[in-house]
Amino acid sequence: MLLPGDGIGPEVSEQARLVLELLAPDVEIEERLLGAAAIRATGTPLPDETLDACRGAVAVLKGPIGDPEFEAGEVRPEQGLLALRAALDVYANLRPAISGDVDVLIVRELVGGLYFGARGVREDGTVYDTCEYHPSQVERIARRAFALAELRGGRLTSVDKANVLDTSRLWRRVVDEIARDHPEVRVEHMLVDNAAMQLASAPEQFDVLVTENMFGDILSDLAAAVTGGLGLAPSASLSDGGPGIFEPVHGAAPDIAGTGTANPAAMLRSTALLLEHGLGRAEQAEALARAVDAALVHAPTSDLGGKATTAELGAAVREQLAGALIT
Ligand code: NAD
Ligand code: IPM
Ligand code: MN
Repeated sequence: MLLPGDGIGPEVSEQARLVLELLAPDVEIEERLLGAAAIRATGTPLPDETLDACRGAVAVLKGPIGDPEFEAGEVRPEQGLLALRAALDVYANLRPAISGDVDVLIVRELVGGLYFGARGVREDGTVYDTCEYHPSQVERIARRAFALAELRGGRLTSVDKANVLDTSRLWRRVVDEIARDHPEVRVEHMLVDNAAMQLASAPEQFDVLVTENMFGDILSDLAAAVTGGLGLAPSASLSDGGPGIFEPVHGAAPDIAGTGTANPAAMLRSTALLLEHGLGRAEQAEALARAVDAALVHAPTSDLGGKATTAELGAAVREQLAGALIT
């Protein structure tokens, strides 16, 4: 299932479709509306038709959603994305950031915390959002993070604000409990303000970093920034068995939408994650990841100081793939 989204979404999604048609021609691609495009067409950011189709799909490839026109309104594109994540229960959001000697995997809890807690307005006009976590929600994301750390460098940094927040103290306690089942993983706890500073100044120290929803949102943009920028950063959102959602870390970039200059690499790397985690096609995923790396050297887009357009970088990736498929 392809959800092209808003702003630069359709532009980078087009490149993902072309790559999939070349690399995995047997994969059937259907398209549905999500976000501002869906609000304009149907009045709601996640039409039932889109949700049903995503539920029935093997995997969901999603372009960014969002539009300044709806940013602070009653009905917002972002509500559609959050509802889709919750409906598919994709609690484990993997956000890798790789460049030079930096190779960090942020594991962000995606369907709990401040994004999904009770919210409202009191009589006196106070507005509130609450951060809530059930121990089982922390347990399942911690188990995922430990399993991933085991497959990688064996180091896990759990990021919280346990010096202030009760939810963070729960987080830390549960992570320590799960740690007993993984004696081979070296665990450390880090406060989120320090983690932001460490990511900015010494990112090479991290292997796997696990954290709650809102901290993970902010730290993953930061990790992207220190490893080449948002135009490069992909993500995979996984449940226990159902379809995953694969999408770039970046948003709809209204400031450059329509100019044909958006970097499609984050979307194409998300497509590689879909091939790997969504379709179990590790070889094709690897081929695509390598093609994107090579194409970025030959045809960098303007966010990387180059001149290539979205379409030109996409074409360079397909050229690399065609070469690799022949040899
Ligand atoms: P943004 O990520 O869209 O853009 C931030 C900056 O990065 C902009 O200067 C933009 O031009 C640049 N940028 C982002 N992606 C790029 C790419 N592929 N190539 C080149 N430059 C790129 O963040 P924002 O401006 O804060 O948000 C815009 C809208 O996107 C908002 O409505 C927000 O809610 C939405 N958003 C959606 C998602 C998502 O769908 N997962 C993620 C983040 C933001
Ligand atoms: C992201 C985005 C979303 C989030 C928004 C658009 C709801 O910023 O995927 O990082 O905060 O999760
Ligand atoms: Mn974000």
